Amino acid sequence: MNELVEKVAGPTYYWLTVKAVRDETPAAKSFVLVPERREEALFRYRPGQFLTFRIPHENGQIMRSYSLSSAACNEPHMTICVKRVDEGRGSNWLNDHVTAGTRIEATQPAGRFVLSDGDAPLLLIAGGSGITPCISLIKQALIESDRNVKLVYANKNEASVIYRETLDGLANRFADQFTYQRWHDDARGFLTAEDIGAEAVGWEAADIYICGPEPLMDMAENTLAAQLGQEKTILTERFVSPDDEAANPAPVAGFAASPCSFRLTLDGEDYEVPYRPEQTLLEAATTAGIDVPSSCTEGHCGTCMAWLRSGEVSMASTKALSKRNIERGLVLACQSRPATDAPIWLDFDF
Ligand code: FES
Repeated sequence: MNELVEKVAGPTYYWLTVKAVRDETPAAKSFVLVPERREEALFRYRPGQFLTFRIPHENGQIMRSYSLSSAACNEPHMTICVKRVDEGRGSNWLNDHVTAGTRIEATQPAGRFVLSDGDAPLLLIAGGSGITPCISLIKQALIESDRNVKLVYANKNEASVIYRETLDGLANRFADQFTYQRWHDDARGFLTAEDIGAEAVGWEAADIYICGPEPLMDMAENTLAAQLGQEKTILTERFVSPDDEAANPAPVAGFAASPCSFRLTLDGEDYEVPYRPEQTLLEAATTAGIDVPSSCTEGHCGTCMAWLRSGEVSMASTKALSKRNIERGLVLACQSRPATDAPIWLDFDF
């Protein structure tokens, strides 16, 4: 077991300056972001990761996570793309108020929706603004490897396709390596499970990435797990917010318990983490000085997802987890408190 040092819990925010703003579609803008020079090293990122922003709001501040669409291999600055959402407090504030020169607070890059090791092909299913982390992965894979890549990208219509020119350019430049299937609902109807299943034929060995609207993600994840095997690694990226009622299932109820400690596994190391009443498992781990993956700390981003190998927890919110995640025993550490006295073992190396 490792020696633990107590420290204060909670994410750290840094100032970024918006260097440029670009219209991508009538409803989506890209924002190019630059950290303070002395903090540049803190903002090195892996393709597919995201930043959590602290956004001014009439009731104080709200936290929102947005994926990076840039790839460090060919772009000097971080870029996010944000699409307007009905009643979306964070996305609409960014679209309405942020211009070149605006300063905005964000956490360091985080997230597990990153390129897998090895040379397996990649199959990506994206919908709408879900293209944002996917295009980052695609650029990196095409420019820096020989991996074959297939993208199925669904949108309402031609006008709502984000990064259309970039994707067309990649399809031309990497014609032998990149298969690009654009899907417009107004011409072909919504993507169905049969369509997804057909697109995956011949890509059984691929690593799977899915990002988009909740119903598309659930359908694609369930279809591909059933077709390619439940053990298949399928990475999904879902950001939800209090604005998003549909993605807000009831919290998992449970009886609150207060063990003295719990077991935690991270990067091959085992820790016995002291636990105080009322703490979340993430707060206990952070207080103990363990640098577990986390970002929003509010149950929106899924970064703190871990496998509950034993014990039971009560989660204040499960909205960043898919049904399949929950069935596999995954929990959000930032939302979890012990529910019974059964010994808890939380594994981040799942
Ligand atoms: S840190 Fe974002 S969901 Fe837990």
